[in-house]
Amino acid sequence: MDIPQNINNAILKQSNEHKIILDYVSRFDTAIMNKKNDELLALIRHLAPFLQKDLISHFEMEERFFFPAILHTLPSEENIKTVLRLQYEHGILTRDLHWMTQAIERAKFQQADIDQELLRYLRPFLHALKIHARIEIVELFPLIDRSEACTDWITRQIATG
Ligand SMILES: [Fe+2]
Ligand SMILES: [Fe+2]
Repeated sequence: MDIPQNINNAILKQSNEHKIILDYVSRFDTAIMNKKNDELLALIRHLAPFLQKDLISHFEMEERFFFPAILHTLPSEENIKTVLRLQYEHGILTRDLHWMTQAIERAKFQQADIDQELLRYLRPFLHALKIHARIEIVELFPLIDRSEACTDWITRQIATG
């Protein structure tokens, strides 16, 4: 019975990615607060691939398996509102990160100082991402964890692709 273990791993992996996101935002905030420019530069250099690859695939997993699982197995009005809010936020965040990653790539961080204009956009973006991840940690994943029907739904969907 490999599948349930794999599925549990998939749910756990998705859940753990929120901790990675929160850790990233927290390191970013700390670097800004302490005016640690070297650390900030290193974080920003890794930001574009993190946003383009890891964050987008994180959103896709939620939209393909986790949000529908709630709608199919736990469709209370409150849960539907939570999923709609999270889905809406994915749209806003995806829209913003599209142009932001272009701005990050255009900037010549290797030689130049930190682009203050970019930071003015990055900070609220990362703050919104942090709030989004917290809602998923506090509201979404406990619902999934508590419901066998919900985890079974995810199991079936992932197994069938
Ligand atoms: Fe999300
Ligand atoms: Fe998430």
